Amino acid sequence: MSGARPALIVGNWKMHRTAAESASLARELAERLRPTAGREVAIAPPFTALPGVAAALAGSPIALAAQDIFWESEGPYTGEISALMLQDLGVRHVIIGHSERRRHLGETDHMVNRKVAAALRSDLRPLVCVGEAEAERLAGTAAAVVRDQVLRALEGVAAGEAARLAVAYEPIWAIGTGRAATPGDIVEMHAGIRVTLRTLLGEAGDATRILYGGSVTPANIDGLMASQGVDGALVGGASLKAEDFARICDYR
Ligand code: PGA
Repeated sequence: MSGARPALIVGNWKMHRTAAESASLARELAERLRPTAGREVAIAPPFTALPGVAAALAGSPIALAAQDIFWESEGPYTGEISALMLQDLGVRHVIIGHSERRRHLGETDHMVNRKVAAALRSDLRPLVCVGEAEAERLAGTAAAVVRDQVLRALEGVAAGEAARLAVAYEPIWAIGTGRAATPGDIVEMHAGIRVTLRTLLGEAGDATRILYGGSVTPANIDGLMASQGVDGALVGGASLKAEDFARICDYR
C-alpha cells in the first residue's frame, strides 16, 4: 500500500519497437487507460521513439519516461543524451542504473549517482534501479548489496528532493525470467530500502516511492500492490502488450 505516496507504474520498453510501432502502442494505451486518482502511469520507449510517443500521449494522463540520461548537460559526449534534450521532448521520469546497463555497459554506482544528480538539477524525476544478483541472494547478502547501491546512488541528494525521487527494487534474477520475487522477500527488501532512505534523507525519506520490478504481470500485480511498502511497479515484458499493461495499471 502506498499510503500518502501516489502509486507509480512505469512501463520499460527496453530496446523494443521502432518509432512508428511505439507511437501506435502508445496510442492504444492512451485509449485503454483511464486516469485513476492516486495513481501515476508512465511509459519509457526507446529514445528514437520519444517524439512520436509524446505526440501520441498528448491529452492522456500517461507520462513520458526515458530509459537513461547522461550526467553532463552538453558537450563532446558522442552518443549521449542530456536532461535538457529529454525535457525538451516532454519527458518527466528517467530510469537510471537499470541492471542491464550495469551489466552490459559497465555502469557503476558512481555513474548512477552522477546521473541522478543531473536529473535532479533539471525537472526530471529519477527512478533509480537497484537489486541483487542470484548468487548474492543465495549467499544471504541481498539486503547489504541493495543498501550499498542505494547509499551510493543517492549520495549528496538533498532531503528536499525526496518526493521527486523513486527507487525500483529489481532483483536481477527476477527480470525477464517469469520468476518474480516472493511477496515476503519484496516486503522485507522494501522495508530495508525505506530504512536506508531515512538514513540518507531523514524523515523526508518517507516521501520517496519504492517500486518493485521483475516479472510483473497481470496475474501478480494485485497481490504486489497490496503488499506493505510497495508504491508501484516497473514493468518490462508485460508493458509491451497494451492489454496486459492496461490491466496492470488497473490493479485492484
Ligand atoms: P520484466 O523486466 O518485467 O520483463 O521482468 C523488468 C525490468 O527490467 O524493468
